Amino acid sequence: MKLIHTIAELRAELARFQSPAFVPTMGNLHDGHLALVQQARPLGDVTVASIFVNRLQFLPHEDFDTYPRTLQADCDKLQAVGCDLVFAPSEQELYPQPQGYKVQPPAELADILEGHFRPGFFTGVCTVVLKLFHIVQPRHAVFGAKDYQQQMIIRRMVEQLALPITIHTGPTLRAPDGLALSSRNGYLSPDERAEAVQLSRTLQSMVALLRAGERNVAAIEQHALHTLAGRGWQPDYMTVRRRHDLQPPQPEDLLHPDRLVVLGAARLGRTRLIDNLEV
Ligand code: PAF
Repeated sequence: MKLIHTIAELRAELARFQSPAFVPTMGNLHDGHLALVQQARPLGDVTVASIFVNRLQFLPHEDFDTYPRTLQADCDKLQAVGCDLVFAPSEQELYPQPQGYKVQPPAELADILEGHFRPGFFTGVCTVVLKLFHIVQPRHAVFGAKDYQQQMIIRRMVEQLALPITIHTGPTLRAPDGLALSSRNGYLSPDERAEAVQLSRTLQSMVALLRAGERNVAAIEQHALHTLAGRGWQPDYMTVRRRHDLQPPQPEDLLHPDRLVVLGAARLGRTRLIDNLEV
């Protein structure tokens, strides 16, 4: 496996391959990321992972400065799962000038849910992902289902901009108690870590109600919000949406639970966690 820091060197390495398979990450890798790399491997003739903590997708009060940078450990893990190339550019390499040209995803997808609570987040994500796509020129790219809205927005970007890339979604990996794996789980104290599973448990109870035929979506959402708030969480949203456009379900959609997804985001202490489950 080769670790590469510059665009020029990466392009030179990739010149002899036809169909790179790509997994973009911000590093601090866990088994969920490694599963995406394993999913990518058979898709292309070379497997590329990027590690770049993208300033553009952090709000000023968020954890850009403290986001864990663990390059050596990440490389060891990537090597163990058979990744071929790791692209870890510096900020100067990826953004030599302030990035004035940006990709603005449509508001109806990007200003709801995560985008409502993290304004500009998906502009930052789409901008860096499109730039990485231009640099790597992958034939396939793999994103995690835990970031449900992100993978949907990137899929639409690729469709609307006619990029010759197939987007694949990898399943959310979970700890034995059900907590979705996330780099931010490392911020949790032992007590918070024990409590953190309640996010997925609450989503599971929302799913159970919908599968049992409960049609009062507002009541399901309120109950979930109150459950978490009562345990000391600060929930941003716990919501039932349609899978295909992330809009609130219409009565007709509720007759088909397999059209639905439940999504949640909540802060536990200083750590903000997100998760989702398809119904
Ligand atoms: O999901 C992430 O880790 C990031 O949003 C991504 C896709 C690597 C873009 O910075």
